[in-house]
Amino acid sequence: MSEHLTIQNSPVLFGCRTGICGTCLVEVIGDILPPQPDEHEMLETLAANYPYARLACQLDVIGNVELRKV
Ligand code: FES
Repeated sequence: MSEHLTIQNSPVLFGCRTGICGTCLVEVIGDILPPQPDEHEMLETLAANYPYARLACQLDVIGNVELRKV
């Protein structure tokens, strides 16, 4: 997803693009695959109270999604 957002000049910022810095934290609703264990662990640390929080650089999108910056 990070490559697509960069191409689209998205306001979502990226740092590491490997899931360790948290810069790309967003809320996502839509057709996405669940987080892998490493991303899940980061989300528990960064956004435990945001059930729709995801790291945009780690998203595998399979359809339409709506993003909101956390
Ligand atoms: S860009 Fe660093 S976690 Fe996504």
